[in-house]
Amino acid sequence: MPEIQFLQADGRVDRVDAPVGVSIMKAAVGAGVPGILAECGGQAMCATCHVHIRYTPVVLPEVGEDEDEMLDCALSPRAESSRLSCQVTVEASYDGMSVYVPAEDL
Ligand code: FES
Repeated sequence: MPEIQFLQADGRVDRVDAPVGVSIMKAAVGAGVPGILAECGGQAMCATCHVHIRYTPVVLPEVGEDEDEMLDCALSPRAESSRLSCQVTVEASYDGMSVYVPAEDL
């Protein structure tokens, strides 16, 4: 399984063996990573799963239309690195990815 690091504002780092085929959100929530509320359950309707991709070993799929609209509703400022973690599906090639969880979205 690819390992994804989740970084928190307080310096906490969770290294998660993320199952291929699930969303980054589900991998994080399943591993007890704090800060990803995922209130809508992964339907791109809440933005409480907003994260920043700090490092990715491969180019990620483009931001979808629904994801694009909802990212504008995230509590923390949107950036080039912003993604809804429920809309990115883990692939084996994501091993080594680093994801920042913004505290402002809690
Ligand atoms: S879980 Fe609600 S937008 Fe991702």
